[in-house]
Amino acid sequence: MTDTLADSRISSRMFAESVPVVVEDVRRRPAAERNELLADPGFGRYFSDSMFVARWQAGRGWYDARLTAYAPLQIDPATAALHYAQSIFEGLKAYAQPDGSVATFRPETNAARFARGAKRLAMPPVPEEAFVAAVDALVNADREWVPTGPDQTLYIRPYQLASEPFLGVRPAHEYLFLVIASPAGAYFPRGVHPVSVYLSEDYIRAAPGGTGDVKCAGNYAASLLAQEQAIEAGCDQVVWLDAVEKRYVEEMGGMNLFFVLGEGADAEVVTPELTGTLLPGITRESLITVAREMGHRVTERRFSVDEWRAGVADGTVTETFACGTAAVITPVGEVKARTGDFTVGDGKPGPLTMRLREHLLDIQHGRVADTHGWLHKVA
Ligand code: PLP
Ligand code: COI
Repeated sequence: MTDTLADSRISSRMFAESVPVVVEDVRRRPAAERNELLADPGFGRYFSDSMFVARWQAGRGWYDARLTAYAPLQIDPATAALHYAQSIFEGLKAYAQPDGSVATFRPETNAARFARGAKRLAMPPVPEEAFVAAVDALVNADREWVPTGPDQTLYIRPYQLASEPFLGVRPAHEYLFLVIASPAGAYFPRGVHPVSVYLSEDYIRAAPGGTGDVKCAGNYAASLLAQEQAIEAGCDQVVWLDAVEKRYVEEMGGMNLFFVLGEGADAEVVTPELTGTLLPGITRESLITVAREMGHRVTERRFSVDEWRAGVADGTVTETFACGTAAVITPVGEVKARTGDFTVGDGKPGPLTMRLREHLLDIQHGRVADTHGWLHKVA
């Protein structure tokens, strides 16, 4: 039997001002098929039944917002985003809560970052409330796709691209905003296992004045060769250094980095400061708050490869971990560099890394009190 999304809870939703969300009938995949995919979703392989789409045109603004069936887009071969990468994206997750409801984590923060990214790429920003409304509408429609297994989530991918068919180099006059969703298990197939990292000395991710602090598609395309180099060197991930001196650690692949100095209750946490070349991660910001609440001193400052290596050698640096929405918290074990390899601690996940990881997951999955109002109930 096919049921539809014609549901009063969502059909009354608005996107931007005076733009109602049109809810189309969507054929839902049978529960047995869905449950099979949800049993072992991996990351980014399967997509839920619906998607959200809205359009923007110069002189008209946002229009034609709809929840429709997840399906291939029909685009003109001259679509500007395909040529000049005028395109941005976000990543957030919906979490099944113990009371049977579904919540997203700090979606208004993703909305703000998305709007900032749009401005940097000379695109019209999606109003922040409209971004959150679109995510809510999709998660509500496809709530059966929110998996309930341990640490499983529904990963949500909002994105915006220049859809005008035009080959001149200037900001496009037409855009698409889409939201799709993909059930997710662990980002790294080996689970919470320290990753090995390769310090990129040949390539840089972002330079001052560039686009390193926004989530634009081109940043990720430009990162792939260095990531391939890391794999060739036998490592899992690339670690980026600053573009100017190549001395300071910036971030790892699609994640921010943290260093733990010392041990126990007195351990200090250091994370690279936001110089404009790294992404202001929402997980990063949340962990700074959580670590401070646990009584740790947290410092945002520049952190050099030399300090990392020397700290590991003399025992000052006891743990290193990376964090982001997709991967949550991942310990860093081995570090490979032309200037010499080293291993953080005993190469196993550190105690503070694991405590922070558990605590963040407990907040996100509703297992402890949400004292910051970070959870946004959706369905
Ligand atoms: N750094 C980069 C380059 C990323 O792509 C991401 C992922 O979004 C992050 C850091 C972590 O950001 P967040 O915690 O907001 O997911
Ligand atoms: C995320 O953590 O949401 C990301 O966007 C990282 C990666 C999948 C690009």
